[in-house]
Amino acid sequence: EKTLRELADENDVTIGAGVPARSFRQYPDDPTLAQTLKREFNAITTANALKMGPLRPERKVYDFDDADAIVNFGVENDMTVRGHTLLWHKQTPEWFLAWDYTDDQLEAFVRDHIHTVAGRYHDKVDVWDVVNEAVADDGSMRETMWYEAMGEAYLDKAFEWANDVAPNADLYYNDYEIASDNDKADAVYDLLQRLLDRGVPIDGVGIQMHSLPSYQHSREGPEAVGANIRRFKDLGLDVQVTEMDVAYGPDEEFDDRLEHQAQYYRDVLEACLDNGCDTLITWGVHDAGTWLQNRYDVTSDPLLFDENFNPKPAYDAIRDLL
Ligand code: XIL
Repeated sequence: EKTLRELADENDVTIGAGVPARSFRQYPDDPTLAQTLKREFNAITTANALKMGPLRPERKVYDFDDADAIVNFGVENDMTVRGHTLLWHKQTPEWFLAWDYTDDQLEAFVRDHIHTVAGRYHDKVDVWDVVNEAVADDGSMRETMWYEAMGEAYLDKAFEWANDVAPNADLYYNDYEIASDNDKADAVYDLLQRLLDRGVPIDGVGIQMHSLPSYQHSREGPEAVGANIRRFKDLGLDVQVTEMDVAYGPDEEFDDRLEHQAQYYRDVLEACLDNGCDTLITWGVHDAGTWLQNRYDVTSDPLLFDENFNPKPAYDAIRDLL
């Protein structure tokens, strides 16, 4: 039997996992995480290590150890490496939140951050989530610190700064609940159109695809997912599913929950492949490593492998499609 990775490689499909350094460090040389990763996946994403908070414990101190470990693992094992993320309003350092900057200082700071981080990995990170979650749920621009200091032009600048130092990387905008019929998806579509009209060096859009009952539009059927992928593609952008997991709420009683989950993974991958998207990344490898434990009051088995790294029905479902 071929592994998921073998089938993905044969079919020019990219199947990846977002990995937190914590679980990566926990299992570096046992037969589980590292081996499952390199056997089953041909892409890897840094789940937290490249976010500003974990990366910059102090204003002038970068700690690249965790990020290097994940990035180098990906390079050594011939995986597509996704860097997540250069600019996000969450998981910023404590000292940053306490800093009383001017708009100009903030702009210089962000430029320096992006030049430093994207520059360090210019020949290792293949795809960057340059900006994460710039649009609010109602479709307005999210009023982040970046937006307040620079206006919408912060996106233009962020992509240009990344392009300065990592001209060969694919540069992505990444967000959640944008594969649905909703105001936010429309607003992201319009934003991407404006960026392209202004000549911003953006290559693609990442659809997070966290499927949680607390996200209103997270269980969109394959038609809406496919239609949204298609319209992003029609803008001339590449599209990837970047952070998929499938969880259920306490009042969602399914006897066959794992089969339902498998079907949803399959539907999304099918909508992706049918509409010119060739990449699906799950947000973790095995259920014991999910970020959804003790969060949002949802089931904590959202991934392709169970807590002992045994493949689940969802694994078989996406494997069967390849
Ligand atoms: C999550 C991580 O998985 C958690 O470990 C962390 O505590 C919070 O962030 N959208 C994103 C990801 O773009 O960066 C988030 O990752 C999940 C939601």
